[in-house]
Amino acid sequence: MTDSTEATETFAPPPEFAAAANVKEDAYERGAADFEGFWAEQSRDLVDWNEDFTEVLDWSNPPFAKWFADGKLNVAYNCLDRHVLAGNGDRVAINFEGEPGDSRSLTYAELLAEVSKAANMLTELGVEAGDRVAIYLPMIPEAVISMLACARLGAAHSVVFGGFSADALRSRIIDAEARVVITADGSYRRGKETSLKPAVDEALSHGDTPVESVLVVRRTGQDVDMTEGRDQWWHDTVDNASPEHEAEFFDAENPLFILYTSGTTGKPKGILHTSGGYLTQVLYTMKAVFDAKPETDVFWCTADVGWVTGHSYVAYGPLAAGMTQVIYEGTPDTPDQGRWWEIVEKNKVTTLYAAPTAIRTFMKWGEDIPAKYDLTSLRLLGSVGEPINPEAWRWYHRVIGGGRCPIVDTWWQTETGSHMIAPLPGVLATKPGSAQRPIPGISVDVVDETGEHPAGPEGGLLVIRQPWPSMLRGIWKDPERFKETYWSRFEDTYFAGDGARRDEDGDIWFLGRVDDVMNVSGHRLSTAEIESALVAHPSVAEAAVVGAADDTSGQAVIAFVIVVDGVENSPEVAEELRQHVGKEIGPIAKPKRVHIVSELPKTRSGKIMRRLLKDVAENRAVGDSTTLADSSVMELIEASVAKS
Ligand code: WTA
Repeated sequence: MTDSTEATETFAPPPEFAAAANVKEDAYERGAADFEGFWAEQSRDLVDWNEDFTEVLDWSNPPFAKWFADGKLNVAYNCLDRHVLAGNGDRVAINFEGEPGDSRSLTYAELLAEVSKAANMLTELGVEAGDRVAIYLPMIPEAVISMLACARLGAAHSVVFGGFSADALRSRIIDAEARVVITADGSYRRGKETSLKPAVDEALSHGDTPVESVLVVRRTGQDVDMTEGRDQWWHDTVDNASPEHEAEFFDAENPLFILYTSGTTGKPKGILHTSGGYLTQVLYTMKAVFDAKPETDVFWCTADVGWVTGHSYVAYGPLAAGMTQVIYEGTPDTPDQGRWWEIVEKNKVTTLYAAPTAIRTFMKWGEDIPAKYDLTSLRLLGSVGEPINPEAWRWYHRVIGGGRCPIVDTWWQTETGSHMIAPLPGVLATKPGSAQRPIPGISVDVVDETGEHPAGPEGGLLVIRQPWPSMLRGIWKDPERFKETYWSRFEDTYFAGDGARRDEDGDIWFLGRVDDVMNVSGHRLSTAEIESALVAHPSVAEAAVVGAADDTSGQAVIAFVIVVDGVENSPEVAEELRQHVGKEIGPIAKPKRVHIVSELPKTRSGKIMRRLLKDVAENRAVGDSTTLADSSVMELIEASVAKS
C-alpha cells in the first residue's frame, strides 16, 4: 500500500464522542507552548498532593530528571482513599473474573480495606519506606492489592511475571534486594491448575537472596510446601490484620516500582519509576487517551500485571481515575474462544485495551465468534505492545467496535511509564496502522542515523526531545547503563530503540525495533538473553537468535545453534533446547524453531550477522553477505535449515 492510500483512509471521531471528549484540540497547543507549565497544571488538576510542589522539573543533572520534587503524595491514597472520601466508596473498583468461572467484586471501600490489611501485614514483616518487595502472582485481585500496599508504605515493588522461571525470579530478587516475596499457590490457565510456589522455593533454595518472608495467597488449593519461619498464608495473616491504615505522604521522587525488562545484553534492566510524575502522566493519559469517564465507564486492560501495561493501566491508572475495571485471570480460549466477548457482555465493558497479537488470533478464529455476543457497550478500543497492522486494525474497528468505536494505538515503553504517542480519540481522525502523534506535552522526532536531520520518507529513528513526567528515573543500581543505553547516541535526547517514519500528514508509523530486542506477542525479549540460556546448555557450543516475522505473534524466536562434538543434529536435541530455554527464562521465550547448523555467519571481527539469519528465518533471499569472513557459510546454513 502506498502512502497516499494510507493517508486518505481515516476514521473521524463520531460526533457525539468528539462533543463529549475530555480533552479537545487546544491541549496540543498548550502542551507545546509551555510543556512544564502544562504538566504542572495536569498534575495539580489530577493528583491529590498532600503538599504542593514549588518546582516543576529539575533537569540540572541530565539525564537524571526530577519532577515536582518538593511535593508530597501517597500514590495508594490517590487510588483509594480519595475516592472513598469523595463518597464513591460503593463504586465497584474491580470486577474479577476467574478462569474457572468464579467472580468477585470489590468496591473502592472494600479495596481500601484489603490494601490497608496488606499494608499492616507488610509492616509487621518489617517492610518500610524505601524497601523492595517482590510480587510473583497471577492475575488475581491480590496482585493489585499487593502493589498498592507497597505503594501505601512507600516501598517499591518489583513484579515478576508469573510466566517467568525460578531463575529469572531469583536474579530479579537478588538485583532488587527484595526482603519479602508475595506469591500464590498457583492459578488457573487454559483449564488447568498451574503452580507458582515451587518456583519461589527453587528461587530461594540457594540461600543467596535477602528474602526473609514469603506471603502465599491460596488460589487453587493445591498442596504447597511451606517453609517454617519464612512462609505464611495470606488468609492466616493479611485477612486477620486491621483494615485501618493511615497513609503517610512521601516525596514525589520516592521510588514506586522497579520493573525488569529486556535490553540488548543478556542481563535484564531494572527500570525505576517514581511517584508524582508517574502518577501525573498515567492519570493524564487515562483522561486524554482513554477519555476516562469514571461514573459510567467499565475499563478492561487485558495485560498481565507482570508487564508495564498492567502496572500503568491495571494497577494504577484506572484506580487513580476512580474507574470500575475488569481483571481476568485466564486465557482467551477457556472454556471457549468466546471468553473475552462473554466478559465484555457480562460486565458491559466500555473501554477495551489489548495487544495486536490477540486481535490477530481472534481474526483467525473467525468473526462469527464475537458476533454471538452483545458488544454494544464498547465505546473505545485501545492497542498496545507492537505495531498494529492495518488489516487487524480494521477488523478490530469493524467486528469488535461495530464501526463506531475510535481505536487508540498507543506507543510507549516500560521506560516511558505511560502513553507517549497515541491519537486523542475525540480530536484526531484515526488512521489504521499509525500511532499518529505525540500526546500533548510530549515532544518526539524521527531522525536519521546522525540525529541531525529529520528522517526521509523511508524512516529513521524515534527520539524524545524533552523530559516527561513518567520517564524512567534510571536503571536500578546502574546509572552508567542508563546513560549509555538511552542518552549516549544523541546528545540530551532519549533514544527509544524503535524505527519509525512520518507520512505526508506528519503521522508516525512504527517500523519495529532497531536493536536486538524482539517483540513476541507484544512481549519484549532480548536475543542475547535467549542466546546465553542456550549456550548454558551442555550440548550447545554457540547460538544466535533472531526475531522473524510471524503472522500471529508479530515476531517469533528462531534459534540457530552449533552443538558440541558428539551431540547429533536431531529433532530430539532441537526440542530439548527449546524446553531448556522455557525452563531458564519462561515459556514465552521458547524458540519457535531451533535449527542446528555447522556454522554461524560472522564478520572478520567475529560479530554474528543476525540480519542474514533473519533472511533465512523469514524465507527470503539472503542479503549482502560480503562482510562475512567466509562467504560460503550462508549456503551451508541454508542447506541445514532446509533439511531440518
Ligand atoms: C513496542 C509496552 C508500535 C516498541 C508498552 C517499544 C509498539 C516496545 C507499540 C516497548 C505500538 C509498544 N506501536 N510498537 N503501539 N507499543 N511497542 O517495554 O518496540 O514491553 O519500544 O512496553 O514495544 O515494549 P514494553
